[in-house]
Amino acid sequence: MVRVLILNGSPRKKGNTLFLVSELAEQLRAKNNFVKILHLNDYDIKPCQSCYWCYRDFPLQCIQDDVMNGLYPHALDAEVIIFASPIYWFTYSAQLKLFVDRLLALHVKGGHSFQGKKFASIFVYGASNPEGSGVFNAIKSVEQMISYFGGENIGVVYGTGGDKLTAKDNPEILRKIGNLVLTISNQ
Ligand SMILES: Cc1cc2nc3c(=O)[nH]c(=O)nc-3n(C[C@H](O)[C@H](O)[C@H](O)COP(=O)(O)O)c2cc1C
Repeated sequence: MVRVLILNGSPRKKGNTLFLVSELAEQLRAKNNFVKILHLNDYDIKPCQSCYWCYRDFPLQCIQDDVMNGLYPHALDAEVIIFASPIYWFTYSAQLKLFVDRLLALHVKGGHSFQGKKFASIFVYGASNPEGSGVFNAIKSVEQMISYFGGENIGVVYGTGGDKLTAKDNPEILRKIGNLVLTISNQ
């Protein structure tokens, strides 16, 4: 049983990112993994203020009294964290960026408390060609972040979404989701 946290950075409840997130979650649960999904758009996450209060005694908390202090325990507890987002303006969405910036608070002496954690990503974009979509900026950004944490990147799934992805029309991206399920379940 692997404890998985999925960070959904899309606001669209019937959109492409959530379609893939739901597929992933359903298949992971069918293999008896524990899956928690945070729909980041539902939370009023304040931007990091760069005050570095969180560095003083490494409290694993932020001085800003908002919803993030209640979300950190989910991130700390997860063995695998999935970044899931549409591509907005050639990188991942602001909803996900707000959460990511606030991970500064999980810094510990000599590194980050995500050291040794596993990560994967799911990105959907509108362009027909990935080169023009900006998805590789998002992938690079996440790769560098994971490396900074001292974590391990175990998979990236990306593809183009029209108005609405459907299982019938998208066997290739669903095959990649299936592979990611196997990779995560084997952790
Ligand atoms: C504000 C905004 C910016 C976008 N920027 C890009 C972009 O830079 N590259 C791209 O390929 N698609 C872009 N798109 C299209 C979305 O990535 C695409 O529609 C995606 O499938 C949306 O995911 P969702 O259905 O989960 O909301 C943008 C969409 C929005 C709303």
